[in-house]
Parts: sequence; C-alpha cells; structure tokens
Amino acid sequence: MTERAKRAATKGAGVGLLSVTPADSSAVAAGSLLTVEHLSVADVAGILAMTARLERMDAAERARVLLGRTVALLFYESSTRTRTSFELAAKSLGATTTLVSDKSSSIEKGESLKDTGLTLRALGAEAIILRHPSSGAAFLLARVTGLPVLNAGDGMHQHPSQALLDLRTILLRLGRDASTVDAKTLDGITVVITGDILHSRVARSNAMLLPRLGARVVLCGPPELLPESALGIGAGVEIERDFDRALRRADVVMMLRIQKERLAGFDLDLAEFIARYQLSAERLKTVSAKTIVMHPGPIIRGLEITGEVADGPQSAIEDQVSQGLAIRRALLVRALGGKA
Ligand code: NCD
Repeated sequence: MTERAKRAATKGAGVGLLSVTPADSSAVAAGSLLTVEHLSVADVAGILAMTARLERMDAAERARVLLGRTVALLFYESSTRTRTSFELAAKSLGATTTLVSDKSSSIEKGESLKDTGLTLRALGAEAIILRHPSSGAAFLLARVTGLPVLNAGDGMHQHPSQALLDLRTILLRLGRDASTVDAKTLDGITVVITGDILHSRVARSNAMLLPRLGARVVLCGPPELLPESALGIGAGVEIERDFDRALRRADVVMMLRIQKERLAGFDLDLAEFIARYQLSAERLKTVSAKTIVMHPGPIIRGLEITGEVADGPQSAIEDQVSQGLAIRRALLVRALGGKA
C-alpha cells in the first residue's frame, strides 16, 4: 500500500462531509432538494408517485404543468446527463430554461455564487438547478436567494436526484411498483457500489437513501478510494474489499468512475485496480444472470467497466438516463409547487 493509501485507510481521510446541510429546513425554500439526508420515506414515496403521474400524462397535458415558469440551470462543473435531463424535463413541462455555465458567464470574471444567484433571481428565475465543485454550495445558494434550489451535485457531498433516479431504475428492473416505497421495499436487496467511493457524491447519496428503504449497501474498492470512514455514511452500509466476494451477494452492482479531476487515483496502480475491481464479462459470468449493472456515467470503458458489460443485457445504464428525465420532472414540479 502507498503512503497516501495508508493515511487514508488509517485516518479515514476525506469521506467526511457527510452533512454540510443543516437539518433546519426553515432556512431554505420548500421544494428545495439539497441532500437525501433529510428526505423521509414519505417524501421519497411522494416524489415517486408524482413521477408516475407525470409519466402517465400525454405530452400536451404535461406541457401545461409548468407553463410560463422560469428555471435557471447554473453549472460550475461539466455535465452531460444531469444538465440535459433537467433542461429537457423543464421544457417538457412547459417551463422556460436558461443555462449559465462557469465557462461563458461573468463567473469567469470572478462573480461570486451569491451575486450570480441574485442576478438570476432578478431576471425572473423561480428555481435554480446548481452543480458546483464545493460541498455545501447548494445550501448557500438556497439561503442567499430564498429560491428553491435543486442540487445537481455539490463537490464530494450529495447528488440527490441521481440517488432517486437510481432508486426508480432499481425498482423497475426488479419488476416492483415504482410509484411508491416504504421502509421495507428493498428488504433483502444488496447493492454493491464499487470504485471511487471517496470522491463520489453519487455513492454518498445512494448509501444514505437505499438503506432507509431496506437495502443493504456494500461499498467496495481499495483503501485509496474507499477509506474505512465511509462506514460513517450510516446504518445498513458495510465495506467489502474483495470485489468477487461482494459480487456474489449483489442484486445490483453500481460501478463508479475514478474522478481524476478530484485527484483520484493519482498514485493508484491502474493495472492492479483493473485486475481487482473492473466489472468484466468474466467476472459477471460468475454471478447471477439477474444481477443488475448500473453506472451513473460518464463511463470510462476498459477501466472500471468493460464495453461488453456496459452494452450487455444486464446493463441498466441507459435506463438510468431515461429515469433521470422522469424523476427530474417530478423534482421540478415539487420545487415550483406545480399541480400534477
Ligand atoms: C456523476 C457526478 O457528476 O457526480 N455523474 C452524473 O451526474 N451522472 C459521476 C461522475 O462524474 O463520475
């Protein structure tokens, strides 16, 4: 093990940041979704029910739900799936959207998050979707603007809409009713999350949400990417370093990209990582043909997952993308107090 890995493993560096969002929700507008932490099972059931109702509507009916409303997308980090699905979701509900990205706005000139948010509000934005490299940025924006904010990923902290879309994907793939949940819905289901857990807001949100619905979450990866402190994420979560052993228990295996932009894996032996943790066809053959393969994207084919597995029959990766659109519609209606 490298020195850095030893430090991470022994001191539990980094996975922290479990809560940068105060429990006191009175400080932020109703309809905000900043973290899964304070989402009750009833809230989750409500979001799933709304998702199902919106899905059943025809396109013309859906386009009236948020007609005339204005939604701003504020993105300080790259995004393909999350940004596009939020934008298409808002448009399909009849809302007007505007995109501000750090690459082409006054953010490049040094304008603060607060001033950018106040500017968007002055221009008529009624809700803001924010992706930002700093943990807690979504809470700050919600507080200073008073607008409902949907957290589209804040640093290494939370990605609540991803966890909800992953949940809906799992329910549908398991053949369950996806329009409601309770604390036992995922009883007996084991979800193995593998790869760069340390830097992953997706892992953190899923590992908080899924056990609340009865699932067991098994985190898997080398100490460099998965310090022991990850267990602090909460109840129902365990660590298993042996991927083959973890896979034998998996109903769902969720693979994660190594986040190079957050300096992940810079002293990682990639050949060794691939040998021990890549989800390859050979590995998948050793487990049940029913095991569901997931990945939030972007996928690095040939690294954490092979192309064959990503494109294979067990892969739910494209379903996740489609469910992103469905769930985000409901989150927008919830944020704007729309009727559906
Ligand atoms: C993830 C993210 O940005 O947190 N992607 C996503 O939103 N689908 C994961 C990643 O970047 O690897």
